[in-house]
Amino acid sequence: MKILVTGAKGMLGTDLIDILSKNHEIIATDIVDDENIVKLDITDLNDIKSKFNSLKPDIVINVAAFTDVDACETNEDLAYKINAIGPKNLAIASENIDIPLLHISTDYVFGGDKHSYDEDDETGPISAYGRTKLAGEILIKDHTDKYFIFRTAWLYGYNGNNFVKTMLELSKTNDEISVVNDQHGSPTYTRDLSDAIAKIIETEKYGTYHITNSGNCTWYEFTKEIFKQSNIDTKVKPVTTVEFPRPAPRPEYSILNNNKWKSEGFTPLRSYKDALNDYLKLELN
Ligand SMILES: NC(=O)c1ccc[n+]([C@@H]2O[C@H](COP(=O)([O-])OP(=O)(O)OC[C@H]3O[C@@H](n4cnc5c(N)ncnc54)[C@H](OP(=O)(O)O)[C@@H]3O)[C@@H](O)[C@H]2O)c1
Repeated sequence: MKILVTGAKGMLGTDLIDILSKNHEIIATDIVDDENIVKLDITDLNDIKSKFNSLKPDIVINVAAFTDVDACETNEDLAYKINAIGPKNLAIASENIDIPLLHISTDYVFGGDKHSYDEDDETGPISAYGRTKLAGEILIKDHTDKYFIFRTAWLYGYNGNNFVKTMLELSKTNDEISVVNDQHGSPTYTRDLSDAIAKIIETEKYGTYHITNSGNCTWYEFTKEIFKQSNIDTKVKPVTTVEFPRPAPRPEYSILNNNKWKSEGFTPLRSYKDALNDYLKLELN
């Protein structure tokens, strides 16, 4: 297949392209051009239509987003443009040439009041980021039927700033680190998510999926696991979200039940601890 990927230079985009390029022809795009990257701003519908007509992809994967959760709070208009209008544009242009769109969404479309969430549970974002990502989902569904929406969570990967890297860095200069112990989720490795994307695009099993590594933890528990697997003896102190305020509120619980993925016959993603182990081999070497 000829696959057009937006946001190709990002953390997930880089791993996704690495994995998909083994079996497919990739058109890598991002907001700025670069070596092997075509410039494509997803907020520009005319440019999208013209690129789709000339490049003729068989499927589009939207990884582009405004992902700084805290910055979204004070830039909600720009976040809406990128996280909602962008996916809408891609849905319109995909529908025009009758190709599927796979879009990445987030656990932050939920409010955190339930302990875990099914795909058809009521959404209720509590942050600007969550609101704009949910708007993106709704606009996609309004404009095409051939969509895969993958809600994922707590991503980390080799090619981007992420929580694991931050904790490893902090451990170099601190004897003790305070980490919140009242937000629960499923850390997910970008390579495992990319493998799942590679599987679903071979099918026409359209719809909304929750896709994360198996198991769940708090950020505090995740940090303990990172340090255990890395043989780091920095102490980790559990704190509450109230003690560690951030500009954007985060859901207390955002564990995503991967129900549809399993019911469509796919194998659940491996445990977050096993995935972390693979990632750390790359990161620490
Ligand atoms: N990171 C997480 O923990 C997490 C959790 C759940 C879901 N997600 C979702 O997963 C996806 C990938 O996340 P990520 O962390 O890999 O993101 P990322 O590293 O921030 O990559 C996003 C890419 O999109 C580009 N971009 C921004 N605005 C654009 C525009 N208007 N047109 C085209 N490209 C644009 C960015 O360029 P610049 O860097 O130049 O802005 C960047 O290269 C996103 O949809 C995100 O919402 C992420």
